[in-house]
Amino acid sequence: MRRRWTTAVAVSVAGLLALSACGGGDGQEAGGGLKAHKKVEVFSWWTGPGEADGLKAMRKIFAKQNPEFEFFDAAVAGGSGDAARALLSSKLQANQPPDTFQGHAGAELQGYIKSGKLEPVNFLYDELKLKEVFPQQLIDQITVEGQVYSVPVNIHRSNVLWFNPSVLRRAGVDGAPKTVEEFVTDLAKVKKSGKIPLSIGSEWTLVHLFESVLLGSLGTDAYNALWTTGADWSNATVTKALENFKTILSYAGTPQADWQPAAKQVADGKAAFNIMGDWAYSYLHNAPPGGLGKESHKDFDWAASPGTDGTFMWLSDSFTLPKGTPNRDGAIAWLKMAASEEGQDAFNPLKGSIPARKDADRSLYEDYLSWSLEQWSGSKLAGSIQHGVVADDEWRAAITEAVGLFQRDKDVAKFQRALVAAADDSGQ
Ligand code: GAL
Repeated sequence: MRRRWTTAVAVSVAGLLALSACGGGDGQEAGGGLKAHKKVEVFSWWTGPGEADGLKAMRKIFAKQNPEFEFFDAAVAGGSGDAARALLSSKLQANQPPDTFQGHAGAELQGYIKSGKLEPVNFLYDELKLKEVFPQQLIDQITVEGQVYSVPVNIHRSNVLWFNPSVLRRAGVDGAPKTVEEFVTDLAKVKKSGKIPLSIGSEWTLVHLFESVLLGSLGTDAYNALWTTGADWSNATVTKALENFKTILSYAGTPQADWQPAAKQVADGKAAFNIMGDWAYSYLHNAPPGGLGKESHKDFDWAASPGTDGTFMWLSDSFTLPKGTPNRDGAIAWLKMAASEEGQDAFNPLKGSIPARKDADRSLYEDYLSWSLEQWSGSKLAGSIQHGVVADDEWRAAITEAVGLFQRDKDVAKFQRALVAAADDSGQ
């Protein structure tokens, strides 16, 4: 895993900082000595449909519990947070952190920790007895040398195949494909029927698709082994996985602007399949205007992405306490709310995720979410690439670049060489 704190920021730091609406709790004394509400700048990328509803629910609880603070939404638009993270890293480098920011448990967060950007929050874990309520394997992902550095708010699943049952029926496809081979057969049938076989969004959605195809082609143990010391990315099984990815990509429709319009093509009956994380569930299912208000098992349905049944490819959004944060008390109040049962049970049913806490109220998680809860406790685990679990920002950026080039030139050997180099450079 890489040790350096680096970024690939295309715009100048000054420009980005100007772009960021700087809410950072200044705690000013208003005229007449009355204390103004201190702002708490909460940084995320949950602005779009299917994302913003959950944040709003946490914000409401936060406001109720903390009348002395004012929530300031510093969210930066763009699915999966690639744009948000570029801005965030400039802010951190300029020592202008938001009061708290969303980061992914695992390698991504470890990058922030090792570069000294975060304060440990063991005091919160002790005070709120959080070690008893979060799964140990999750705590391990946010711990360095015994110090815990964030509060996980959810568990999302990455390897989900969303599909339109009537489009499948009309194409003569009998239910969701179980293997990568069946998937390819079904994509060809849909193509013949005149519909878009597979919808895709912007570049990051291809990395998202890639991680599911890699897992489905290699199997869980071989996939997990790719992220361990001395992993072999050059072998023939990886080559086969990349060939599968090439075949699957050949059935993709025109790239949409982000994940929502790609998921919508499935809901609207224009496309048969989409591979996306389960934030797509809240977008498809939530009532308008936050979601599309579609009916599950009728307008859309889901299954494990092909070849991955029995494995939960996970990721977790977690909130941090940056060093030198302008409103530390406000940030701690946010973290306490995010850690609480009340906060998690308000956020997750709207976000399409399940709570990180083991003791949340299961009756609130219905339909897709009850399936996800069951799967989480009964499956093997694999970590997401795109969403920060197995590769840190720098490694992920190298993989993203390789996937982007591959989308254009379709050269499997070159793609594999780039992935081997990315793994070598990662210092893993
Ligand atoms: C992920 C994030 C999810 C969701 C998704 C799409 O990286 O963990 O919570 O926001 O991006 O934007």
